[in-house]
Amino acid sequence: MVNRLLSSLKKSGKQFEVAAGDTINDKRAANGIEVPVSCRSGVCGTCLTPVLEGVPDLRDFVQTDLEKASGANITVCCSRSNSRTPVLDI
Ligand code: FES
Repeated sequence: MVNRLLSSLKKSGKQFEVAAGDTINDKRAANGIEVPVSCRSGVCGTCLTPVLEGVPDLRDFVQTDLEKASGANITVCCSRSNSRTPVLDI
């Protein structure tokens, strides 16, 4: 797993670094990018976000094993990335 990663956001055109102790959601909010969040712990699915590139390290409890295997969506409140620069559809 990559400890530090860059997240690229396709729609906003923004890119930022996420340190090992941060979440994508922390950085998203700090950069003024709106994504609905609720539980912040991977149990509600509110923050599910499409992944355009990269392999997510999914840590949520809402997606099925099949959904997780597809890597199509990431819960930005709690998940990480196994890719250096994932691209999210935000
Ligand atoms: S806010 Fe609930 S799963 Fe991310």
